[in-house]
Amino acid sequence: QAALPEGYKLRPLRRDDFDAGFLDCLRVLTTVGEITKERWEERYDWISRQDGTYFILVIEDTTANPPRIVGTGALLAERKFIHNLGAVGHIEDIAVAKDQQGKKLGLRLIQALDYIAKQVGCYKTILDCSEANEGFYVKCGFRRAGLEMAHYH
Ligand code: ACO
Repeated sequence: QAALPEGYKLRPLRRDDFDAGFLDCLRVLTTVGEITKERWEERYDWISRQDGTYFILVIEDTTANPPRIVGTGALLAERKFIHNLGAVGHIEDIAVAKDQQGKKLGLRLIQALDYIAKQVGCYKTILDCSEANEGFYVKCGFRRAGLEMAHYH
């Protein structure tokens, strides 16, 4: 397991993280949009009600003033009928703040999410990524399998 830098903490996302830079962190990944605190709380509460399905982790730099979220990643545990009521872990929305990349924060997030997947009974963890990120996921122990298809709405 990769160690975190001194003063960095890996923990679940909290309802009061709206002001801690979580959404800014996600902006390195894709478009986030302008989200009000009210809509953030609504979505946070909805996710919280999906008991045991969503696991959203953050890495917080507690040495910053105020403390700042510098990395995040999510795991969805999908319960199936196949494979004897098996479950599959889906890793989604991995993002490390630009000025914090290369410190093994991404690796640490993947390790933690994959550990949770195993703990909740997932027989595998899968994810989609760009060719540019393949090397990162190979270093995290993943290998190319299958092909992603998408139909945008
Ligand atoms: N290609 C090849 N190797 C890479 C890459 C890459 N794009 N990125 C990191 N690595 C290597 C590192 O050099 C390191 O190797 P080492 O152990 O030999 O030193 C190892 O992978 C671990 O790297 P970390 O330091 O943990 O990577 P980092 O914290 O910078 O996070 C991440 C990587 C998440 C891809 C980050 O660069 C990022 O947030 N990028 C923008 C958003 C993004 O593309 N997210 C992933 C989308 S896919 C998804 O969410 C399922």
